Amino acid sequence: MADNNILLGVNVDHVATVRQARYREIGRACGQIVEPDPIAWALAAERAGADGITMHLREDRRHMQDEDVRRMRACIATRLNLEMACTEEMTAFALAIKPDFACLVPENRTEVTTEGGLDVAGQMDRVGQVVRTLNDAGIVTSLFIDPEASQIDAAAELGSPLIELHTGAFSNAWHVPAARVAELLKLERAVEYAVTLGLTVNAGHGVNYVNVADIRRIEGIHELNIGHSIVSRALFTGVDEAVGRMKALIRGLL
Ligand code: PXP
Repeated sequence: MADNNILLGVNVDHVATVRQARYREIGRACGQIVEPDPIAWALAAERAGADGITMHLREDRRHMQDEDVRRMRACIATRLNLEMACTEEMTAFALAIKPDFACLVPENRTEVTTEGGLDVAGQMDRVGQVVRTLNDAGIVTSLFIDPEASQIDAAAELGSPLIELHTGAFSNAWHVPAARVAELLKLERAVEYAVTLGLTVNAGHGVNYVNVADIRRIEGIHELNIGHSIVSRALFTGVDEAVGRMKALIRGLL
């Protein structure tokens, strides 16, 4: 019997990273349908039990392309969570695509992956405007933030129904026991606080097949968004096993 109901959102960005490593130019000419196809991979992830698909259309288009998002929107059977920067360009794109969820993330051209949470408290006007525009269009917004009370308060004040807590500090601290415990406690307190404010709380970044044992025990998490570790494992075991195993670990079935 499963001991929690945490959902699994699978982030498929790195399938596109592999494609772009070879087919950056050819892909544009043939509608991105070259291997590996992130949409076909996402459909396999759904068949293996993913509860939703997450993709990030970055300003520099380093992995996902606009056409990928359009095709993903048209093809998947679960829910599409579009990660996006808080810009006019991306807001217009999201309004045209209408993903089920839009997760606002900070973006920095020089980073390898999203490095910190969005500073919502420090840019209430800008973030608030995007949250209102998207929510008014029926797109449920989520704010990717560090597990800090000031950021949680800001998200609640802006009326974003969802937040995603950045688990990167916890993941990075994994090999230093005292730091790991401290970061886990921060996440637990943040989830508890956010839930008391009425927010739905997702979490993700750096979650893998080992550290998920701690994350899955945090009371109140609605969904985990996991990408790199699942795509990496799938290279060895296939999508079915990689997604199925993560889902079973989250649910306490393994
Ligand atoms: N959540 C957000 C907001 C992210 O930006 C990312 C990375 O793209 C993830 C979750 C997934 O992180 P990882 O690939 O480390 O599992």
